[in-house]
Amino acid sequence: MSPYTVTRTLPEDATGAALRDDVRRGLTATPKSLPPKWFYDTRGSDLFEEITRLPEYYPTRAEREILLARAPEIARVTGARTLVELGSGSSEKTRHLLDALSRAGGLRDYVTVDVSESALTGAAEALLADRPELRVHALIADFTRGVELPPTEGPRLVAFLGGTVGNLLPAERARFLASVRALLRPGDTLLLGTDLVKDEGVLVRAYDDAAGVTAEFNKNVLSVVDRELGADFDPADFDHVALWDPAHEWIEMRLRARRGLTVKIPELDLVAHFARGEELRTEISAKFRKEGVDAELDAAGFAPTRWWTDEAGRFALSLATAA
Ligand code: SAH
Ligand code: AVI
Repeated sequence: MSPYTVTRTLPEDATGAALRDDVRRGLTATPKSLPPKWFYDTRGSDLFEEITRLPEYYPTRAEREILLARAPEIARVTGARTLVELGSGSSEKTRHLLDALSRAGGLRDYVTVDVSESALTGAAEALLADRPELRVHALIADFTRGVELPPTEGPRLVAFLGGTVGNLLPAERARFLASVRALLRPGDTLLLGTDLVKDEGVLVRAYDDAAGVTAEFNKNVLSVVDRELGADFDPADFDHVALWDPAHEWIEMRLRARRGLTVKIPELDLVAHFARGEELRTEISAKFRKEGVDAELDAAGFAPTRWWTDEAGRFALSLATAA
């Protein structure tokens, strides 16, 4: 098996200063909120993988369907020698892209970027087991804070799959897409997965599954804060909430306090009070329409060239060229 490189661009204490800042800011704000990137410790990454296999959670299957159908065309159009994947998780679907790019003959390097060290190393080891020729660079990094790429050969293709772009607020999205454009040379490409606006019932069920896996994923953020900051959240004190916000066209996940309670966070010297029924927003998951995606890509300096959806029209992949 070939070696792969793991580069940590986050401090050794990966859930350190940034987590402290986010928790202090989020729990002292009204309404309270926490950024979704803190879901993904080892347990959170495993729970996300379980979510992708749930009958209600269609996005992973829909995106895989598109990738299976379109990967050869993506390989031909992009001619990529380096694939960079942001928020790569298990890299499971990416295998179809890697296969097509390798078959087209040009792929040399796969740069995989994630905050979750367990997801990164698990994915890199699994990939290298059947692709010993691939150079894999695993980057532990926060993609909202600027990513520094290793000096690999172009053309570069950046893939941002799963609809994770929808977990960023609109202003964060604009900054993020501009920062991705800054990683690329004219002619390089971006492959962007976006979940689409659809029936409210289908959407809500995808985020509130019958088996309660998404509820556990949602509450996992409290366990992360307990472990990393010595807090005394009891996940059983909170209910999982998933609701559709029609004005913003996004799903919102929240944790609702079942009773009035006080949480101590010794590492921050902070005490947070929750009234009974008070909610903590843990994630938005924006759903898109083609015009909106094209406009956001254009504003960030990309020319959208392809738009593919699955048969049922639930999810889209856009290919865009750095202008
Ligand atoms: N792309 C995969 C995984 C999606 S889950 C798929 O389509 O199935 C979202 C992934 O993004 C997780 O692995 C999580 O750890 C990672 N992630 C979330 N916020 C991040 C951030 N700010 N920086 C880097 N990775 C992040
Ligand atoms: C990673 N991201 C695209 C998922 C989503 O659908 O927004 C995270 C998730 N949250 C709940 N279920 C899945």
